Amino acid sequence: MSQNRPRIRVRGLTKIFGDDAGPALSLLQAGRDRNEVLKATGAVVGLQDVSFDIAEGEILVVMGLSGSGKSTCLRCINRLIEPTAGQVMVDDVDVTTLGERELLAFRRTRFGMVFQQFALFPHRTIQRNVEYGLEVQGVPVAQRRERALAAIETVGLAGWDQHYPAQLSGGMQQRAGLARALALDPDILLMDEAFSALDPLIRRDMQQELVALQRRLKKTIVFVSHDLDEAIALGGRIVLMKDGRVVQEGTAADFLAAPADEYVRRFVEHIDVLGVVTAGDAMRAPAAVKPWFSTAAAALASLTQSGEPVVTVVCQEGRFQGTVDAETLKGAGETELRFLLSDKDACVPEGATLNDAVSKLASGRGEIAVVGSGRELKGVIANADLVAALARRRQEAGPQTAH
Ligand SMILES: Nc1ncnc2c1ncn2[C@@H]1O[C@H](COP(=O)(O)OP(=O)(O)OP(=O)(O)O)[C@@H](O)[C@H]1O
Ligand SMILES: [Mg+2]
Repeated sequence: MSQNRPRIRVRGLTKIFGDDAGPALSLLQAGRDRNEVLKATGAVVGLQDVSFDIAEGEILVVMGLSGSGKSTCLRCINRLIEPTAGQVMVDDVDVTTLGERELLAFRRTRFGMVFQQFALFPHRTIQRNVEYGLEVQGVPVAQRRERALAAIETVGLAGWDQHYPAQLSGGMQQRAGLARALALDPDILLMDEAFSALDPLIRRDMQQELVALQRRLKKTIVFVSHDLDEAIALGGRIVLMKDGRVVQEGTAADFLAAPADEYVRRFVEHIDVLGVVTAGDAMRAPAAVKPWFSTAAAALASLTQSGEPVVTVVCQEGRFQGTVDAETLKGAGETELRFLLSDKDACVPEGATLNDAVSKLASGRGEIAVVGSGRELKGVIANADLVAALARRRQEAGPQTAH
């Protein structure tokens, strides 16, 4: 994901709310903080020197407590809020310098917005709500109908197009809101607490569906949330904000491994480690690997020497084939390993979480392989490695604070 070129580049974005931002900006640039600026000028610093990149096809979550500047940041990206300083580049377009008409056109064609409040028109059917943006753009009736119905189907609301918003549940209305944004086929979706009004189960469904949808449609998504679980469910990178500034940028696992400060550490304190640390993070080099034409006798010797619970068997190309335990090897003499493979499924992909690794470990023989996308062997995780990885994370997360 992040190896793709950035689709959006945000640089030094600053927003000062107030009639006369000039003096406040000077104070900020002279190193005064937000409170000092407020006292001296009465102006509220909403955002201060915010910079980050968003890759094409990435879901980036902007996270932080209430008032940290998330919405301001999101709205500055498409200039629903006019930034006081800084730059937003979308591909090669400097959004911050667009004239009024260009900006309107750019916003309509490139950005879709989804908010917490669904803001559907109550007297329009779902279909007419979804085609609203296309209507504004002057798209001919037949065409906009077709696009609206396709978007309605994408979000799983097929058959509901002739109903009115009040006839739909909250979750369905949220889907309709998403369909309305998708109907315009923008390549960038800006979503502000879009699922916060939904109850927890529906919310989780919507998160999963958004991830699936994103994989299919390859949209670039900026998702504002104050909920760490939501950020983790959406996967990918997080920009964590506090008092209008970026405190840290990275994955939840990065925050856990190396929190930038106390605020970040406390943010991730209650995180489910098993849900964010990957198999790739926890694996180590295997000590007993054998090609599948090796004999049981040779494998047993190497197993005894290594202290591993199982021999990891690979083909000539290094792809994982399965494991064989000591019990099976004993007495199998010159039989080749490929005839003895007991657990062909004892592996997880590198990117899988420890949650997946735990269930495999529980049903296996004390060790599993970690594999790449073509099943090539990358490393192994034994029960003890899992425990060690968890202990390491606890240590890194540091002692609990008293306050
Ligand atoms: N129109 C405005 N005029 C003055 N101050 C504003 C305005 N909009 C936002 N602010 C201030 O800017 C700061 C950031 O607000 P913002 O709405 O971006 O926070 P947020 O992180 O989205 O919070 P929440 O989670 O509550 O939605 C806050 O201190 C807020 O009071
Ligand atoms: Mg907000």
